[in-house]
Amino acid sequence: MATGINRQILLKSRPNGAPGPDNFELARSPVPEPGDGEVLTRTRYLSLDPYMRGRMSAAKSYARPVEVGEPMVGGTVSEIVTSRNAKFAVGDIVMGYGGWQDYALSNGAGLRKLDPAVAPVSTALGVLGMPGMTAYVGLLEIGQPKPGETVVVAAASGAVGSVVGQIAKIKGCRAVGIAGGPDKCRFVVQELGFDACIDHRATDFTRQLEATCPAGIDIYFENVGGAVQQAVWPLLNDFARIPVCGLIAQYNAATPVPGPDMSSVLRKRLTLRGFIVWDFAARQADFLRDAGEWVRSGRLKYREDVVDGLENAPAAFLGLLQGKNFGKLLVKVA
Ligand SMILES: NC(=O)c1ccc[n+]([C@@H]2O[C@H](COP(=O)([O-])OP(=O)(O)OC[C@H]3O[C@@H](n4cnc5c(N)ncnc54)[C@H](OP(=O)(O)O)[C@@H]3O)[C@@H](O)[C@H]2O)c1
Repeated sequence: MATGINRQILLKSRPNGAPGPDNFELARSPVPEPGDGEVLTRTRYLSLDPYMRGRMSAAKSYARPVEVGEPMVGGTVSEIVTSRNAKFAVGDIVMGYGGWQDYALSNGAGLRKLDPAVAPVSTALGVLGMPGMTAYVGLLEIGQPKPGETVVVAAASGAVGSVVGQIAKIKGCRAVGIAGGPDKCRFVVQELGFDACIDHRATDFTRQLEATCPAGIDIYFENVGGAVQQAVWPLLNDFARIPVCGLIAQYNAATPVPGPDMSSVLRKRLTLRGFIVWDFAARQADFLRDAGEWVRSGRLKYREDVVDGLENAPAAFLGLLQGKNFGKLLVKVA
């Protein structure tokens, strides 16, 4: 049985713009007692992650916000200190979502036992945890990297970005990181083995990025949005892929960011993919078979707007650009 005090960091108020210390409150309460089937865990490591900024806001998102007065949510690596659940023994180390507090109760659901022999247990919150998996699935499933391609990722020294670039290298790609400051950039190249890393705070950042990606960019793993995104987009190659993972540069924005609402691309998991009809030339026979049948059977209707005389083509065309046509615009030439 654990006695003593459980310190908790509560959400005290919701921030408008950048959060500050006043949005949090340190509270103390007695260490709770586990009920039947429950365990009491003592937090060893608490993960701090960008998504927590979203949980501080009441804005509709993919996850429920933290209520004012509740402890902040967070991934934890903890030790079982009391167990009334047969699946867990005192001393077990587990990954869970204990939140910003010394102790947490759990019924065991969502707890994953860790083996300290495999790797330091803290890695369950980073490279072998949610951020590492984010990098892995985002790059491999959505990015579809191919050998020789150029992969660009920002926040490259961070939890997700560091893994993105290293997996890109494992897959035979050229990995270009973007990070804040020369120390982070040096680490990304020298320790992590990226091919290059550019400081997004440098005054000539855009020029450096362009010079570092002479063959353009095939995968932009989006972690930040903002000014970095604007520098990257002109360099994207045909058929480039953009796993939209995070937009940290925008998380504190108090007013909508100009341009298309990329945050809804992320929040609603929208698929955004450009195409030109002839990318699918191989489907032409299928199209003619299906559409021909639908037109014949009346399931596919159409309307034509026919202009008489070739000499009227210019005016008709100019009208098309002003919405004057009603249906498929054609010129009857003869
Ligand atoms: N979709 C998902 O399931 C999922 C899961 C995990 C993480 N994420 C997202 O992945 C991104 C990286 O997360 P992480 O956990 O790996 O964090 P992290 O990279 O370890 O730490 C955040 C980094 O973001 C960069 N940053 C902060 N403000 C910035 C700004 N205004 N402009 C440009 N860069 C800025 C900073 O790096 P520099 O100093 O190098 O700029 C900072 O160190 C975040 O956007 C996060 O929300 C998404």
